[in-house]
Amino acid sequence: MLKVGIIGVGTVGTSVVNILKDNADIISARAGIDIVVKSGVVKNLSKERGLDITLTDNVDDILNDDEIDVVVELMGGVEDAFEIVKKALRSGKAVVTANKALLAYHRYELEEIAQDIAFEYEASVAGGIPIINALRDGLSANHIQSIMGIMNGTCNYMMTKMANDGVAYDAILKEAQELGYAEADPTFDVGGFDAAHKLLILASIAYGIDAKPEDILIEGIDKVTQDDISFAKEFGYAIKLLGIAKKDADEVELRVHACLIKKDQMIAKIDGVMNGISVVGDKVGETLYYGPGAGGDATASAVVANIIDIARSGKSRPMLGFDKPMEGELKLKPIDEISSKYYLRINVSDRTGVLAKISKIFEDNNISIETMLQRPASQESANLLISTHTALEKDIQNMIKKIAALDFVNSTPVMIRIV
Ligand code: HSE
Repeated sequence: MLKVGIIGVGTVGTSVVNILKDNADIISARAGIDIVVKSGVVKNLSKERGLDITLTDNVDDILNDDEIDVVVELMGGVEDAFEIVKKALRSGKAVVTANKALLAYHRYELEEIAQDIAFEYEASVAGGIPIINALRDGLSANHIQSIMGIMNGTCNYMMTKMANDGVAYDAILKEAQELGYAEADPTFDVGGFDAAHKLLILASIAYGIDAKPEDILIEGIDKVTQDDISFAKEFGYAIKLLGIAKKDADEVELRVHACLIKKDQMIAKIDGVMNGISVVGDKVGETLYYGPGAGGDATASAVVANIIDIARSGKSRPMLGFDKPMEGELKLKPIDEISSKYYLRINVSDRTGVLAKISKIFEDNNISIETMLQRPASQESANLLISTHTALEKDIQNMIKKIAALDFVNSTPVMIRIV
């Protein structure tokens, strides 16, 4: 019998306990051994959870329990979780985690500590979608050319509702929180950080890149308005928060931001809380993974799969997918050097000559305009909605600063990259 201890018995932890019980027949047949949850750590012991496992508020009860083979870390957060997971590994216990923030900062240290002890983290990226397994094992014969995907269900839910029902931003965020999709601090979702944590994990498996959130371009969806959505509809785009990893010669660009994406692309059709990730390999071509990226049972499905895997083999594969560093290692592309097409929304005073002055600034910054719309915003002001041909990130950023400083421009222009 394999015995499990869960640190953090919240929504996902409760689902882990229930799945191991509900599906015990197929799980023990697949694992070749019975798997039971022996105990769980919670903050509040007086809360009724309806679970028939031993609960404690002392993490050492699990870490020091010699009967526990696998520690499932579902507490979230970075540094406290890091200390606990290190202790678990050092005491020889296998670890399964869903904690993407922990991995975004400490995955290489954890790989070093784990060595031959199993350390699995399928649920950390895109909840129930087995994307880690696909990338680390199923696609291991390929050079990965790109990864592009919807990795945050809360943002996708919000973008979908804003586009389809015209619901205001704050109301939908509240809805996503009530449905249990959002992080404890929802700025992690809407600010793009949750998706960035996931992208960094995938980038390690695909490229061996050891980057931290501070090293990459991270923007959220908090500036998107109905003006942008109506521009998108008019020009055949959807607006999505995407995580993008792209290999270009010996560099890899990593970025998370809102994107305008042509409606006929598969990723653009992924709506609601669902996640979807496209991975392009040099031999396999494009592959697409779709499914629920959040929610108790979906996330717990991935956690339990990892426990079954440990029960079967007891050994870790190379945790991040590389047994040794690759010759000619890839480097992270500087943010300034990223190129893209861009959409800009510029709120201007509606006066003679404004458009001419704006287009001159585009020319001076070597940025070519592809489409332009002007929409009245109030009696005296108008929104200019402009899309560009491919330009360099540093040129766009410089130009935005110059435009923002003009006396007839009423606020800092909003920019969304076009994929
Ligand atoms: N807050 C996350 C999301 C949960 O909305 O996708 C899964 O990581």
